[in-house]
Amino acid sequence: MTTAEPVGLPEPPALGASALAPGTYNDTVVLITGGGTGLGLAVATEFARLGADVVIASRKPEHLDTGREALEHLGARVATPRCDIRDPDQVAAAFDEAETAFGLPAVLVNNAAANFPVPAEDMSPNAWRTVVDITLNGTFYCAREFARRHLAVETPGSIVNIGASYAWTGGPGFAHSAAAKAGVKNMVETLAVEWGPYGIQVNGLVPGLFPHEDMTADIQSNLARTNDKDVCQPAMRVGRVRELGWAATFLASPFARFISGHTLVVDGANWQRRLLTNPPVVTVRDQMGKDPFELTQA
Ligand code: HXC
Ligand code: NAP
Repeated sequence: MTTAEPVGLPEPPALGASALAPGTYNDTVVLITGGGTGLGLAVATEFARLGADVVIASRKPEHLDTGREALEHLGARVATPRCDIRDPDQVAAAFDEAETAFGLPAVLVNNAAANFPVPAEDMSPNAWRTVVDITLNGTFYCAREFARRHLAVETPGSIVNIGASYAWTGGPGFAHSAAAKAGVKNMVETLAVEWGPYGIQVNGLVPGLFPHEDMTADIQSNLARTNDKDVCQPAMRVGRVRELGWAATFLASPFARFISGHTLVVDGANWQRRLLTNPPVVTVRDQMGKDPFELTQA
């Protein structure tokens, strides 16, 4: 008799492989917010490999420079408008710069977001506001700018909003980000219906756990509290960033034209995980190694 050992989900094809034909995004402009780091850059990389002209928009020149270098290395044409997506005027200016460089983007990936772990009772109003402003409001400003420009010239387009699975479940320690991502997911469903008649698809794409070296110190330190990230996943492994890039390039491709208003989760089923038994509850404070709460202000 043989025993079934847990081996997890198989590894994906190697970096550089693609399910889509070479040149799928030739003559196509793709704008990716936060495309200079982490998952945004991984997504930008897959569009670049398939021939896209890539526009990456974010606040920090060092992120834009790193992204430009990586994408140009793949042979892509790249534009890098500086833009804080909390400011609708800066969003409009980034689209102006994209149009001047390559033409109106046919694809928008709303990837930029903000997040840090904090117990809700410790969260300042400005901390809440900041995360919601970037993740939810910024995503809407970019989607709105994209749609208005397409409606004006009667061209189709595709929006992919990067989400998070705590949009459905709630996210202890991430109340601000979870609420904002719930808004992003909901927005996908509304905008897909409003803008479908004008030829604009709107979808969501949710990464599971995809560790990468650009993760902020706050997020890294949170992850460091889990010793072995692989064995904590039903897949017995974390995501490889190219797997998210492949999903994004599929969702925005001609082969997904009838998919709209959908949010695709790429997480090896981690968000569905439940336990047979009920382990003891550990508060967010204890998980973060924080002292007991003390009221320090009225
Ligand atoms: C508590 C914090 C905090 C922290 C900031 N704040 N960091 N509060 N714990 N760790 C508070 C500040 O004290 C301030 O409130 C308010 O938040 C705004 O902070 P600023 O530094 O002034 O904001 P800003 O310069 O605009 O920077 C935004 C930021 C920063 C969100 C704080 O971290 C950032 O730029 N992040 C972008 C990248 C990012 O977040 N990536 C993560 C995406 S990963 P007060 O009251 O003091 O004024 C993700 C999913 C990961 O989303 C899932 C992991 C499993
Ligand atoms: P990251 O490397 O920290 O990327 C965040 C990006 O957003 C940065 O490039 C940053 O660029 C940009 N950004 C932040 N605030 C901005 C603002 N106000 N205006 C413009 N750009 C801004 O994080 P990541 O892990 O790649 O996350 C990418 C997306 O995946 C996010 O939507 C995140 O919520 C989601 N996600 C990630 C994971 C994961 O495991 N990594 C899991 C679930 C969901 P600048 O600093 O240059 O502005």
